[in-house]
Amino acid sequence: MIYLLGGSGYVGQAYQDLLTQKGIPFRNLRRADLDYTDVDTLVAALKEDRPEFLINAAGYTGKPNVDACEDDKAECLFGNAVLPGRIAAACSVAGVPWGHVSSGCIFTGSRPDGTGFTEEDSPNFSFRTDNCSFYSGTKALGEETLQGCDNVYIWRLRIPFDHRDGPRNYLTKLLRYQRLLEAENSISHLHEFVAATFACWEKRIPFGIYNVTNPGHVTTREVVDLIKESGVSTKEFDFFDDEAEFMQIAAKTPRSNCVMQSHKLAAAGIEMTEVREAIRLALANWQPETQV
Ligand SMILES: NC(=O)c1ccc[n+]([C@@H]2O[C@H](COP(=O)([O-])OP(=O)(O)OC[C@H]3O[C@@H](n4cnc5c(N)ncnc54)[C@H](OP(=O)(O)O)[C@@H]3O)[C@@H](O)[C@H]2O)c1
Repeated sequence: MIYLLGGSGYVGQAYQDLLTQKGIPFRNLRRADLDYTDVDTLVAALKEDRPEFLINAAGYTGKPNVDACEDDKAECLFGNAVLPGRIAAACSVAGVPWGHVSSGCIFTGSRPDGTGFTEEDSPNFSFRTDNCSFYSGTKALGEETLQGCDNVYIWRLRIPFDHRDGPRNYLTKLLRYQRLLEAENSISHLHEFVAATFACWEKRIPFGIYNVTNPGHVTTREVVDLIKESGVSTKEFDFFDDEAEFMQIAAKTPRSNCVMQSHKLAAAGIEMTEVREAIRLALANWQPETQV
């Protein structure tokens, strides 16, 4: 049996779908039913149920976007930086291996040679580098909290998208925002992300950090071109002149835009679809929100 924390959330729902499809028994824990943020409570539950693996899809994401984290810093810090440490403590006592959903938003830009960041690179969009949003800072701290843990996968998710229209889907966001910021990013198909991360456990690949993004990178304009090509929308997309205008008009806090490499995951035998192809497939199977 698998333990799932944060299964009620956007990413957690995708894990619920995956485990259900695979016919793998799991227990979806909700804080309201069992306070998994308390180490003793979590240890007692782990010792009683003896799950073989735990997935942490819990955390604090600002809604509708990261700007909201600037207004709820204590909860953001707790959900993203303190909670992973507590889960680590509980899993260590109970002897349960686990996986933590982290984020690629702890990086900005690309490496000096233009290639994407690897798992060896230190975050460059964090409180340590003093240039980040509060959300990104707490996600980097969450990873730092887990340094030295030898029974955990740290999976970096990045700008999730899929074929289901909805407010958390990157493709929907592009369709609904009045104006867009041109930027270059590596991004993750949500269902491929959950399948790839669970495969880490199924294949028993070594614990550690994994960038779980679709290979390659895309600019906002390239994604818009794919949306137009798909026929999902005929809308005229409008862009900010530059990041300065975006920050002045539409944002409270800087955004992470970054290129990442997912070679480590591929080398471990877990392949994801090339990013443009993954976007094309999502758009080809597009389900408008009314039908979801
Ligand atoms: N969505 C994205 O764009 C994105 C991108 C990269 C990484 N991530 C990471 O993926 C994880 C899940 O994100 P999500 O988008 O699925 O978030 P979500 O929809 O807000 O769900 C997160 C779940 O976490 C649980 N939780 C535990 N402690 C919390 C706290 N202090 N504040 C708020 N919720 C808390 C809640 O479940 P219960 O109350 O039911 O237990 C909640 O439903 C987070 O760690 C996030 O940083 C998300």
